[in-house]
Amino acid sequence: MADMSLWPDTGLHVAVIMDGNGRWATQRGWPRLVGHRKGAERVRELVAASPKLGIRYLTLYAFSTENWKRSTEEVLGLMSLMGRYIRREASRMSDEGVRMRFIGDRSRLDPKLQRLFRWIEAQTAGNDRLHLTVAVNYGGRDEIMRATRTLAAQAAAGEIDPEAITAAQIDAALDTAPLPDPDLIVRTSGETRVSNFLLWQAAYAEYEFTPTLWPDFTPAHLAQILDRFDLRERRYGGVAL
Ligand code: IPE
Ligand code: IPE
Ligand code: MG
Repeated sequence: MADMSLWPDTGLHVAVIMDGNGRWATQRGWPRLVGHRKGAERVRELVAASPKLGIRYLTLYAFSTENWKRSTEEVLGLMSLMGRYIRREASRMSDEGVRMRFIGDRSRLDPKLQRLFRWIEAQTAGNDRLHLTVAVNYGGRDEIMRATRTLAAQAAAGEIDPEAITAAQIDAALDTAPLPDPDLIVRTSGETRVSNFLLWQAAYAEYEFTPTLWPDFTPAHLAQILDRFDLRERRYGGVAL
């Protein structure tokens, strides 16, 4: 795909369900965490490549509200990988104009990791070239439930009229409030399910499923997917032009 950096911003939002780390490691007789470590390297590459691919918003599913079902070792390993990623990549992200955000319920995370999230969000708040959002302890249903509680509390306090709640108000109460809806959602590893990712926001997203396991997924794979995405006709319920 052509380097689009000379073109006006298209605001393209690509979201990725990074799946297959465990299988990638198991196939090689290695612990699952080795797959997660390799996966983090792929994230680094993808973040660097995204602006050249015309991506303005990149949202990555790193840990779901259901992933607590995994072993303590794997959960702690994933959490420490995230902390390491933030510390190691902070200066590069600032240099490359990356604004980092987190979505999901962070109140259940280690306070030290929560502080790191707040720190990197503040540190990169002035950047605008690539909006990198990482979903941690994120579930679409959990997010909608929390937004519902917020709106219900506002209604109970007389601040909003329950009869007049709009889709825009729901958008604003979600974790993704600062982001446009995703245009394209990619899932690696051959699974063809949504697994609780961006349920409200994906109303008109295009989906791409690829058999490639996440630790093998390179920017070249994404470039191919984007070439196909560009050929799709998006109608949003209307008629073909
Ligand atoms: C995706 O890889 C990463 C996370 C869910 C944290 P998996 O760990 O789900 O890998 P598989 O699906 O077991 O291969
Ligand atoms: C989805 O992958 C969550 C992330 C990639 C973080 P899972 O591996 O947890 O999803 P299921 O269990 O296959 O649906
Ligand atoms: Mg998986």
